[in-house]
Amino acid sequence: MGKQILITGAFGQLGESTLLELQPYFDIIASGKKIPKITNYPCKYVELDITSKNNVCKIVETYSPEIVVHLAAITNVDLCESNKELAWNNNVKATENILDSIRGTKCKIIFISTDYVFDGFSGPYSENDQPNPINYYGKTKLAAENIIRGSGQPWVIIRTNVLYGNSFINKASFVKWVIDSLSHKKKISVVDDQFGNPTWTGALSEAIKLSMIMNVNEILNYGGSEFISRFEFAKKIAKIFGLNSSLISPIKTRDLNQIAKRPLKSGLVTSKIENILGVRTFGLDYCLSKMRDGIIT
Ligand SMILES: NC(=O)c1ccc[n+]([C@@H]2O[C@H](COP(=O)([O-])OP(=O)(O)OC[C@H]3O[C@@H](n4cnc5c(N)ncnc54)[C@H](OP(=O)(O)O)[C@@H]3O)[C@@H](O)[C@H]2O)c1
Repeated sequence: MGKQILITGAFGQLGESTLLELQPYFDIIASGKKIPKITNYPCKYVELDITSKNNVCKIVETYSPEIVVHLAAITNVDLCESNKELAWNNNVKATENILDSIRGTKCKIIFISTDYVFDGFSGPYSENDQPNPINYYGKTKLAAENIIRGSGQPWVIIRTNVLYGNSFINKASFVKWVIDSLSHKKKISVVDDQFGNPTWTGALSEAIKLSMIMNVNEILNYGGSEFISRFEFAKKIAKIFGLNSSLISPIKTRDLNQIAKRPLKSGLVTSKIENILGVRTFGLDYCLSKMRDGIIT
């Protein structure tokens, strides 16, 4: 029997590729608020809302995981801004629930965080840069990071940005929105002043797998190898999927009137994780082609 690994948020965008990447090597307990209809990976499926301390403790007691890969979060940035209590309960308190449930054991926590812990004035950011979140989502993720770092449990925090990938369970994503809109010949406006290095979930899942064997407590950045604006990213998607890129027009972030502020010049420098774990980062043409061809990891 392999190591028991509990994944929270296993049926989200990153969850599914992580599930697929880890299941050949470990005994996976895939948990989420609701078990999806498609459950075709060979692992245990468990309903778990991590805001319930009792339920988290019960699951941890039942399975005694050696590692918790903690992916679950409210990731809708505007929702976090408009419902701060919901965001805090799900992103911070729920992380405390997990830590409380594994306290006194050797269980390690791997937490996926974000470049939104930075203000976006001078990215791309390295692990040594000073966080300064400008929206509530970023504040909750930074608070969760800090609780994990002070918990006394073994930990790894991987910060990432602009995730995209194939998923059979999870439907909504930026890439899918661009593809669906252009396929239906719908014009779209995409911001040309938000920069990052979009990250293929398959490659991030491999980095998560490698971080599981590392015996140090570290913050590590992982992202794709290209730093571009969302507008340029949308154009790339159109190119790889053979869609009409002239339907995409540039727009400024301030003209969207979104509830939450967005870091503009963001993204993450990845040299530390490349050196420590020997992972590679990948360009958009390669990853989008894999996505086009239906490959998850
Ligand atoms: N997406 C990005 O670009 C990005 C960038 C940087 C970092 N991250 C981080 O990466 C992680 C994974 O992101 P993702 O893109 O895969 O997000 P996602 O698709 O929104 O998945 C998050 C999952 O967490 C679940 N969840 C939320 N609250 C929960 C709760 N109380 N109990 C159990 N499950 C709960 C959600 O379930 P429901 O859908 O049922 O609510 C969803 O399945 C998150 O921690 C996020 O902060 C994401």
